[in-house]
Amino acid sequence: MLERLQKIMAEAGVTSRRKAEKLILEGRVAVNGRAVTALGSKADPARDKISVDGRPLPRAAGRLVILLNKPDGYISTVSDPQHRPTVLSLVRGVKERVYPVGRLDYHSTGLILLTNDGELANFLMTRAARVPRTYYVKLKGEPAPEDLGKLERGIVLDGRRTLPCRIHPLAERGKPWFEITLLEGRNHQVRRMFERIGQPVLKLKRVRIAFLTDRGIAAGQFRVLSPKEIERLKRWKPDDDYKF
Ligand code: URA
Repeated sequence: MLERLQKIMAEAGVTSRRKAEKLILEGRVAVNGRAVTALGSKADPARDKISVDGRPLPRAAGRLVILLNKPDGYISTVSDPQHRPTVLSLVRGVKERVYPVGRLDYHSTGLILLTNDGELANFLMTRAARVPRTYYVKLKGEPAPEDLGKLERGIVLDGRRTLPCRIHPLAERGKPWFEITLLEGRNHQVRRMFERIGQPVLKLKRVRIAFLTDRGIAAGQFRVLSPKEIERLKRWKPDDDYKF
């Protein structure tokens, strides 16, 4: 995704936007080795090499976190014995080796993070981190309110109780659509929870991970998180909105 150079520089933590503009005008900023002096210039932080006074922006040297909007029909493992397309095939042009954080099923759509930062990936996957993930689901029928209450309080899956969660009807989409927010990410958890109350999930889309949404990211597209966003994820503390 193309962004203004001064925005990319500010988000990399090297300087403020105003000072970045000054650096650009002074000819001290280069994109892929060529000096850029026009203020409106744009670059792609995932693909272009940006440097200030010959030094690469911090991200180029280190960790990378990508937020991908996965379409239907992609597998979220690194490789697939059945040769189905993987989410990695959608992050073309990214040189770092990134791995998906958790999974979305082959037919699930929506947000998935990919990173080369193993520590961040492990943190996001632990139950203790309580990172909320919100899904829109289309059910086969209309569940009874008391069944939804059971799911919200927690049910036993594989011998372990699920954490309390929140479920609301999704008014803007009409009847069999619901929004569910979980504070953990167990295998096929959403589908298995609704199956338990006799309501198969027909469609599933992840629309939010912590504070990250799919705004501006079309299906099949991705964006690179800024260092500020990465720090915010690393220091995630369950906020009051998500104390169920
Ligand atoms: N829960 C599921 O059941 N499937 C997904 O893809 C994500 C969460």
